[in-house]
Amino acid sequence: KLNLKLSTSGTNLGVDAITAQYFADAVKEASGGKIKIRVYPNCQLAGGSMPKSIELLIVGGNYELAVFSGSVLGNIDARFLTHSVPFIFSSYAEAIAKMDSTGGEYYTNLMKEKGLVYLAGIHNGLRQLTNNKKEIRTPEDLKGLKIRVPSGEVYMKTLREFGADPIAMNWSEVFTALQQGTIDGHENGYQTIDSAKIYEVQKFITEWNWSYDGYWLMANSKDWSKFSEKTQKLLLEKAKEAEVYGRQYLENAEKEIKKDFIENRGVTITELTPDELAAFKKAVKPVQEYFIEKFGEDAASAWGLK
Ligand code: MLT
Repeated sequence: KLNLKLSTSGTNLGVDAITAQYFADAVKEASGGKIKIRVYPNCQLAGGSMPKSIELLIVGGNYELAVFSGSVLGNIDARFLTHSVPFIFSSYAEAIAKMDSTGGEYYTNLMKEKGLVYLAGIHNGLRQLTNNKKEIRTPEDLKGLKIRVPSGEVYMKTLREFGADPIAMNWSEVFTALQQGTIDGHENGYQTIDSAKIYEVQKFITEWNWSYDGYWLMANSKDWSKFSEKTQKLLLEKAKEAEVYGRQYLENAEKEIKKDFIENRGVTITELTPDELAAFKKAVKPVQEYFIEKFGEDAASAWGLK
């Protein structure tokens, strides 16, 4: 009999918590109720802190499992944000192709070094820009806007290069900061935006797919090694099922969410023309080169950075 805890950083409506719950239910059923996993959203076991959440998973003794994004993992090693370098992926199929081959292998090894076991990878999403001031179509439009980002150099450096004033903040604090106007905007995938009801406090979204973010289902290595072979096999098998479910869930949800934002939530969604997008890509070319150099050849080739 096992009672396990699983931490997630998004809200209870985020694809991370939804996939984690699917995993927990599948494990419970397959083990005849012997393995129970309880899901804790909002980094609540770490007081809402994203950096603390990943530290606690690694230290052990707090929770055995987690589903965390690159924006959380990036706090322990910047290379966990290789997949988020601007404009590497423009579709989920492209991201999956790397995640399920060289990119996934690279992160599996990096996680092993940190005391983590890679179980599955799903989408957090292609990240879009929200703000409450105006429609953003050019890097100039972003000048001076205070945009919340998760911590991590990929986020800070890129948004600065785009002309914005980036501010690092835990996800759990973002809604209130937007509501109170401490920040003007933020960036995230459609499903994550929806799961925290960000549309209540932001009227503009620019669809620019500037960065891809994933969520990784992981276990603490020490805890993992204590599980029997049979338990490990069952957990891995259900993690892979949850992976298929979570990816599909997000891809389907995005279409519905976009429609809902426009038709029911009064959100203006600006889709950039190829020329407008090219201006953002040009602005961050030096940033891409910087990260290829910084993360090294192994990381760059594993995730297809050019
Ligand atoms: C963020 O913006 O902090 C992330 O996309 C949210 C998350 O990690 O769940």
